[in-house]
Amino acid sequence: MRLIITRSGLESAQLAAEAIRTALVQKPDMTLGLATGSTPIPVYQALVDAYQQGRADFSRIHAVNLDEYVGLSPDHPQSYRRYMEENLFRPVGIRPEQVVIPRGDLEPEGELVRLNQFTAAHPIDLQLLSVGVNGHIGFNEPESVFYDKYHLVSLAQQTRISNARFFSSMEEVPTQAITMGVGDIMRAGKIVFLATGQEKLPAMQAILEPGPVTPACQGTVLKLHRDCDIYLDQELAGQITPAPEVEVIRVGAAKEVLL
Ligand code: F6R
Repeated sequence: MRLIITRSGLESAQLAAEAIRTALVQKPDMTLGLATGSTPIPVYQALVDAYQQGRADFSRIHAVNLDEYVGLSPDHPQSYRRYMEENLFRPVGIRPEQVVIPRGDLEPEGELVRLNQFTAAHPIDLQLLSVGVNGHIGFNEPESVFYDKYHLVSLAQQTRISNARFFSSMEEVPTQAITMGVGDIMRAGKIVFLATGQEKLPAMQAILEPGPVTPACQGTVLKLHRDCDIYLDQELAGQITPAPEVEVIRVGAAKEVLL
């Protein structure tokens, strides 16, 4: 696990986008695992900029998403499909046939078969990831076990409260989701992870500081990933004492020393 300490959330997003762009240049037909929520938005903006400047070509990738709310159709304003279309797919020319996102409006059992067939045939090369206040990755909520593959989950009340900001009332926030399992996330060749905001501190401490790998904080499983880069701004990182096995890189440190 590497902790890359940046000077701002924006710098974290730009570096994460550059890591994705580099992987794309190396493997233009990669399977790219994607996330939604507030955190990745500046990453997608940086990728759209790179596309517009002719520095990124998404025409041959498969794009697979972590999760989707059960009950929302793909064109619902708060569906993750719609979010992806607006923030990345349309602006960079990713076509519907390249995309695999759970359908929240279809019968979940059939969806799970479709999704798990896809990930079995297309291992994820790089997974973009963030974390929930309660340590969830994807919608793998605090539990007594880790799940391997895509599955149906009941959303934690904490998650529904956090995400209520996107809906007009708490009642509208879905109670269930389909999420990729922790096993699929762990099988990704590389993980590019970022978090911002004080409310993510306890989860990031559990992930980066010495302590157990526990399904009570699902993100702690990343301690075992062989190639996981975590981008945190210095404000958040300054409150964390990473475990000795975490390699720490401080962006701009060499320059600061020279000055
Ligand atoms: C999104 C996802 C979630 C979010 C997490 C943080 O696809 O799987 O795990 O990454 O809830 O969301 P934000 O970035 O909105 O704080």
